[in-house]
This record gives sequence, C-alpha cells and structure tokens, in this order.
Amino acid sequence: MKSQKLTKKGNLYFPTKKFQKKAWISDKKTYQKANKDPVKFWESLAKELVWVKTWQKGVEHRPPYFKWFLGGKLNITENCLDRHLPEKKDKIALIWEPEPTTERPKIYTYDELLRQVNKFANALLKSGVKRGDRVGIYLPMIPEITIAMLACARIGAVHSVVFSAFSSTALKIRLQDTKAKILITADGYYRRGKVINLKENADEGVKETEVKKVIVVKRAKNKINWKKDRDLWWQDLVKNESSQCKARTMDSEDTLFILYTSGSTGKPKGCVHTCGGYSVQANSTGKWIFDLHDKDIFWCTSDPGWITGHTYTIYSPLLNGVTTLVYEGVPDWPTSDRWAKIIEKYKVTIFYTAPTAIRMFEKYGKGVLKKHKFKTLRLLGSVGEPIDETAWLWYFKNVGKEKCPLVDTWWQTETGGILITSLPGVGPFRPAFTGLPFPGVKVDILDEKKRSLPVGRQGNLVILPPFAPGLLRGVYKNPKKYLDTYWSQYGKKIYFTSDAAIIDKNGLIRIVGRVDDVIKVAGHRITTGELEAAINSHPEITECAVVGIPDEIKGEVPVAFIVYKREKPAAEVKKEVVGQIRKEISPIAVPKEVYLVEDLPKTRSGKIMRRVLKKLFIGEELGDLSTLANPGIVEKIKKIIEK
Ligand code: PRX
Repeated sequence: MKSQKLTKKGNLYFPTKKFQKKAWISDKKTYQKANKDPVKFWESLAKELVWVKTWQKGVEHRPPYFKWFLGGKLNITENCLDRHLPEKKDKIALIWEPEPTTERPKIYTYDELLRQVNKFANALLKSGVKRGDRVGIYLPMIPEITIAMLACARIGAVHSVVFSAFSSTALKIRLQDTKAKILITADGYYRRGKVINLKENADEGVKETEVKKVIVVKRAKNKINWKKDRDLWWQDLVKNESSQCKARTMDSEDTLFILYTSGSTGKPKGCVHTCGGYSVQANSTGKWIFDLHDKDIFWCTSDPGWITGHTYTIYSPLLNGVTTLVYEGVPDWPTSDRWAKIIEKYKVTIFYTAPTAIRMFEKYGKGVLKKHKFKTLRLLGSVGEPIDETAWLWYFKNVGKEKCPLVDTWWQTETGGILITSLPGVGPFRPAFTGLPFPGVKVDILDEKKRSLPVGRQGNLVILPPFAPGLLRGVYKNPKKYLDTYWSQYGKKIYFTSDAAIIDKNGLIRIVGRVDDVIKVAGHRITTGELEAAINSHPEITECAVVGIPDEIKGEVPVAFIVYKREKPAAEVKKEVVGQIRKEISPIAVPKEVYLVEDLPKTRSGKIMRRVLKKLFIGEELGDLSTLANPGIVEKIKKIIEK
C-alpha cells in the first residue's frame, strides 16, 4: 500500500505517520532535551531498570577514567528475567532454530529461561566459581551460550566469550589473559551441514592455561576426546540443580564481562564492561533504536561471540522483555533463502544484520525473494561495516518493501551499545549514512590538529564527555594500552574511535572506515598485524605484509605478500601459510590471495609501505615512490599480481 511507504524528500527518507504513532520516540525535541544535560538524560533512562540500590552520583570523570551511576547496585539478570515475571511467564524469551532443517527448534519462555539460568548458575557455584572469577565461554550459537552468559552474570562471575570459529590458539591467548579456571564449550555444532568438532579446539586451547574444568554441552553428539578428571557434561551438571538461585547484588562499576577485540597491534585487547552502565545502554538503545515493543520478534543475526551478539542478540531484547531469535547456522544453507524462510516462519518483526549478509542476499537475486513477502517486518537494521548505497537501497526495497525504517547503527566492541544511528520514529534515513548521534551522545570530527571539521570534510570521529554509560572502562590488565589506544591521539578527555567519518548538512554521519590496521572481513574485526604475526611464525617466512582489499561481498578481505626462504616449493608454502592462519586465528581470516615475493616495498628506514601494496593490488595510481629504498620491487610485484 502506497500510504505505508516511507516518504522521500531529496536523498532523505522519513518514517511514516503510522510508525511514528506507535514509536517510543518520534519527537525531535528528545535530542535537544538530552543534549542539554546528557548525564541527567542517562540517569532518566537508568531509572527504567530495577536497582537494588539507587546510585548517588551520575558520573565521575577522572580522565581517562570515568564511572557511571556511582553507588548503584543491581543485577542485569534480574532485569533480563525476574522483573518480567510473573506477567511474562509464558511469553517466549528465546527461540532457537537449529541449522539442520530436520531438527526441532527449541523455545524458552521467560519462566523457563530463568529456571535454566538458575540451574546452571548453581552448577557453576558448585564447581567453585566465585564472584569476580573469569569464566571462558567457547560455544556456538545454541541456547546454552545465552544461559551460560546469564548464569555467570547471575552469580557475579565475569564472562569472557570467545567466538566459536576462532582457533585454539586464539582461545588460548584469551584464556591465558583472563586466567579463567573454567571453560564452557560444546562437543560440536553444525555449519553448512557439517559437524564442526569444537571440543578438539577447546582441548588444544586449554593447554598451558589455568583451566581446571571444562564443561561440555552435548550438541552434535560427535565423537570427542574426554579427560575424566577435567571434563564434565553440562547436561549432567544441571540435572539435579535447583531452579532457584538468588541474583548477586553487583555494584554498578563491577565488571560484567570482558570481550576481546583486535586493535592496531598483534595482541587482542580485553575490553572491560561494567554491570550498571552497560545494562542502561543495552536497555535504552534497544528500546529506542529498534523500537522494541512487547509483541516484537527480534532477530539479530550476530553470533554472541561478538559484541553485537552480546548486546543485541542477548542482553537488550531480554532487558526489554521481547522475544529474541537465535539461529545456529549460516543464512544461506541449505537453500539461499533460509534467512527469508526463518523470517517468515517465526514472523520476525525486526531484522538486524550486517552489510556482508545483505550483499550476499542481493547476489542470489530477487528470484529468491519472490516467494517471501516479509509482511511481519516493521524495522530493519545494519551494523558492523559501512553499508554502501546500493546495498542499503536493495535491503530497504526488497526486504523492507520501502515500509520499514532502516537504521544503520555505528558502534564498537568498546562502546558496548549503539552510539550513532537515526531513531526510527524520527529519521531521517540517508543511504550510506549511519545518521545522528544517539540523544545525549556528543561526537565530533577532528583533523590531526584537533580542529573540528565542517560539513563534507573527512576526519577522525571522536566521542566527547560525558561519553556514554556503556563505554569500556579499561583494557583488561593493560592500562597503558587503554591510554595509548583511545586517549593519546587527542588527550585524555577525547575518546578516539579509530574511524574516519564525514558529516552532512543535516548532521548525519557517514562512516568511511578505520584509520588503523583493523580490517572488517564480513563484518568481523581483525587486524592485519595479527595476521602478519601468525604468518611470520612459520619457519619458512622471512617477512610479510598483509593488507585489506575491498571485496564485493565481504566488504574487505586480507591479501598477503610474503618473502620466504625458498627452501620448499612455493605451492606448499602458500598452503601452509593458509593453514597457519586457520590454526592461529580462524578460517574467517584466511587471505584471498597469498603472493610470494622477493622483497617488500620499504622506506629507507625499513618501514614496509603497505599502502603501495594495496594500490598495486587494486590497480590504483601509486603516487610518489621517491621515499622507497627499493623502488625496483614495485614493478616485480605488479607482474606477480597480474599473473
Ligand atoms: O569501523 C567501524 C565498524 O566496525 C568497527 C567496530 O568493530 P567491532 O568492535 O567488531 O564492532 C562491530 C559491531 C558494533 C567500527 O570501528 N562499524 C561498526 N558499525 C558500523 C561500522 N562501520 C560503518 N557503519 C557501521 N554502521
């Protein structure tokens, strides 16, 4: 129906009156009010949660450190579960769709989810987990990942989830850093119809760590190795546990979780998030940005191994008392329209995914979509990487049928929740622009000299005080890294995002991309430094350089240039390098191309000119090469690429 479509003025789209009528926020004045006194604004949002004790002070800022809701006490699981009961006893909290189509989905009501969380929380307590202990979670997209995270939060333990497609080495690094004594994992899981043996990776990953117990969820029933004095079946552990467990009262500034992410250097950083601030931001951004209402079925496709999954697959929908959907597998298996079928099957109302998925759906063509009308959808979201205009419009027209507001949401592992996006009941929405900062959030775009840039000029995106309650409180056990990464570019009072951005005349922000060595491969955050470290650990390799190259579907992909000793055949070395990355990092980080070269372009001081390699690969003008110590190598590499 024509009247249901969003209205378009110039290059901007605006929500329909019908949408606005029901939306939590439809008045622009919300921004003015919030921005006048952001602390007061966030305090008003904090009041929507249940606190055991109200905070005494909104914010304390001792640059580069800050605290929110000082003196406040709460438990996030009471807000996710208990407070919705008994009213929502039979309401579905979690729908789990397994990858095999022959298997039945699992449905958890709010009541059942609380019981399962409590049982596992009791099992953790019995296993010796205490408040403040770190617990490693290395689980696929199965219901137990939600239960495990909430159970940790229930008893005040700190969860540290490791993405299940990460390698055993990546798991080990994280477990060593947190000194977790318990790891929760599974026997296996399904991926494109195949069973992945997760336990094998976990067994390898816990070596040389302090992990004493490994709790294993029986999921795929695949054959696994079993260490009698260390391994325990999840199912056995919870069998006789009570379904009651009192939520521990946590201080607002106690740590809720640590999630590792890639930074400029090789080693991942543990971003520390707190109980109070994170809960407030997860609750309110979900409510306002996805306009969550009681009847909503919310599908965020992100794996809980990433921050998007933490906040918008798990915490935010549960805080808001809606139904969240978790799908185990890949969106195009066994048929390219599996994702569309899931939307139809469960009558999903809000769909939140990444541009890589959108481009993939687009590639399969409109034919796939002819059968699917998506009548239940009322809002679309995008996250994780810049969405180009073509993908934006395709998503808006073919999935949203031009009747769903499309919120492109910018944020980071560090920010805990969304910070930039247009609110769906306010707009405006502009393809390829994320939109306005969330009410109460102050951002700027600065040049290298800290000057605020005018409309249309590209610069560094920064966040200004009082920041937002969900922003990270530190890098676990590494205050220097915290200071160097976020608070050194512009001083201790300005948070440096490492993203380049542009603002338009309407105040809408466009994210251009990272200014550091981070690349987003299918939305997954990886650094080229991490990949180089993995490659360099191969004994055949003398040196290497990895660059991120634009890719039609995945946004960016890594390409590796390698100098090797020539003691082995080239094909063998290439194969081993790929294997090395799989082993040290993850299959998701495997380079699109590996080039074996004689030397790498370097400056006289020995710095590798990755910029030159990138331009060579893309076929762009190389620019000034006078600073190179070995300009002759450029032509040679060019020939190798062309071959
Ligand atoms: O470069 C930005 C990009 O993803 C980075 C953060 O990655 P991660 O910590 O994995 O969190 C991703 C999901 C929150 C950012 O520095 N990014 C995130 N959202 C967008 C984006 N780039 C463009 N548009 C977005 N909507």
